[in-house]
Amino acid sequence: MSPPGRWSRRRFLVRAVLPAIAAGIGTTVPRRIVAADVHAITVVSARGPAPVPVTLSVNGQLHRLSIEPRVTLLDALRERLGLTGSKKGCDQGQCGACTVLVDDRRVNACLTLAIAVEGKQITTVEGLARGDVLHPVQQAFIDHDAFQCGYCTPGQICSAVGLLHERRPLDEGSVREFMSGNICRCGAYTNIVAAVRSAGGAA
Ligand code: FES
Ligand code: FES
Repeated sequence: MSPPGRWSRRRFLVRAVLPAIAAGIGTTVPRRIVAADVHAITVVSARGPAPVPVTLSVNGQLHRLSIEPRVTLLDALRERLGLTGSKKGCDQGQCGACTVLVDDRRVNACLTLAIAVEGKQITTVEGLARGDVLHPVQQAFIDHDAFQCGYCTPGQICSAVGLLHERRPLDEGSVREFMSGNICRCGAYTNIVAAVRSAGGAA
């Protein structure tokens, strides 16, 4: 019970969030759906800032961790699980070196909280090969000499796997566009594009 004159958290959410939800999804939505959304918001309880148990499914293996909710997926992978294939370039979503797949969608692991991908399937560059058999994208990068220093390469490869899964067009311009979030400071773009097109069967 809130003191007179003070708003409870629930009352605030109902007053502040309900109109926003209604505006966002249109006025023709039945009222009971809007009310259900507000209820869903109000029952979520905060976790942290102390470490909390988080289970991550990475490359087909479950890992139980105790991490602060603020820990990014990239730091969890590299510093807790020892999966250092995903690289930290900018740590602010600009270079793509940290690209991994979450439920087959490419994401920047430096911008993703580990706790937010609990229950999802995470694939890093370490999880692409099947034993000694490289993923076709990995093989294409070798065949086309699509790297120099190699720092961006794990992110480029994961991004390319995601691109092929998205069934994007594979003409040169489209590949450049859909790989544009992955920066290569060595400038190996020509060979990277050739590798991606080759892996997709377009060249
Ligand atoms: S390290 Fe994540 S985008 Fe650069
Ligand atoms: S191969 Fe060096 S940054 Fe891409």
